[in-house]
Amino acid sequence: MQEEEKVSITGIGSYLPRKILTNYDLEKMIDTTNDWIIQRTGIKERRITENGVTTSDLATKASLKAMKDAKVSPKDLDMIITSTITPDHFFPSTSCYIQQKIGATRASAFDILAACAGFIYAISIGQSFVSSGAAKTVLVVGAECLSKITDYKDRTTCVLFGDGAGAVILQKSEKKHQILYTNLAADGSQADVLIMPGGGARNPASLESVQKRMHYIQFKGKEVFKLAINNITKLIIETAKKNNLKPKDIDLIIPHQSNLRIIEATMQKLGLPMEKAFVNIDKYGNTSSASIPIAIDEARKAGRLRKGNIVMLVAFGGGLTWGSSLIRW
Ligand code: UT7
Repeated sequence: MQEEEKVSITGIGSYLPRKILTNYDLEKMIDTTNDWIIQRTGIKERRITENGVTTSDLATKASLKAMKDAKVSPKDLDMIITSTITPDHFFPSTSCYIQQKIGATRASAFDILAACAGFIYAISIGQSFVSSGAAKTVLVVGAECLSKITDYKDRTTCVLFGDGAGAVILQKSEKKHQILYTNLAADGSQADVLIMPGGGARNPASLESVQKRMHYIQFKGKEVFKLAINNITKLIIETAKKNNLKPKDIDLIIPHQSNLRIIEATMQKLGLPMEKAFVNIDKYGNTSSASIPIAIDEARKAGRLRKGNIVMLVAFGGGLTWGSSLIRW
């Protein structure tokens, strides 16, 4: 009997800028140490774009790889959805720049903003379009140049963030990696705990907003830390349960890479060994929307994703927003 065609990930690609910013480099810039950063975050280094390189440049490179992997041409794309908090410009959307750069002239194009959980939100939107038949082939991108909104004078934030991009192609297929379920959540009452306060309608760009360093990421680290662990743990249990699974039935969890201690505490609460979590935060830091697609690509290349595996993507970030996606590999 033929298996049912479901919305599947038919291609994956990622791209990281070459320039590396190590903890030792940061020691020369701010009052910090390599040991502190590793102990508190698990990060050893992160990638940083050169001046003049933008989010759509990184996204284009990742997208072309995903398209090659899925064997689709630019004209096959019906839609481009990009998740980013560091668009090339407020508007037009970064997806429109990607559309032009890859020559996807038939594709509609728009961005979504759900911070670090944005890639899961974007996958969920793409899945709905493909599932309904309104689109056949959708490019979903997570791309960030966080170095452009990171305050390298603030040691409490600047050690965490890096740049990068990842992309997937969504199509109906019975053979490839099927998306079984997605689950999205938000809590706007905590909007201010993780924010870039300057540049929007509340605090438009001004000399004052620049002098007050409002165009950089600010957060209440400890609060985000606790909220992340609690909400991700609950979400993993809930997502598993909705699919008649227990957390132990998940073969690999691919979490958003924000802090190694957040991942470790979550796995401990779930009673799962760390081998069931994919971790690459040591190399790239927190790349927000890009972290999950980069991790999927690396997990695949490392042989951590085998046919039939149950895989859970899970992310938490500003908004607050969080989400999960269950995939049968
Ligand atoms: O994807 C979601 C986005 N991610 C987040 O929003 C981050 C979530 N939060 C975190 O990852 C952690 O809270 C941090 C890594 C940001 C901070 O770790 P922590 O264990 O919560 O440290 P802390 O803020 O309690 O700071 C401990 C000490 C403080 O000194 P005192 O007050 O104990 O003397 C800080 O001033 O460490 C000091 N400190 C540093 N020392 C060296 C803070 N940043 C640094 C630094 N280097 N870079």
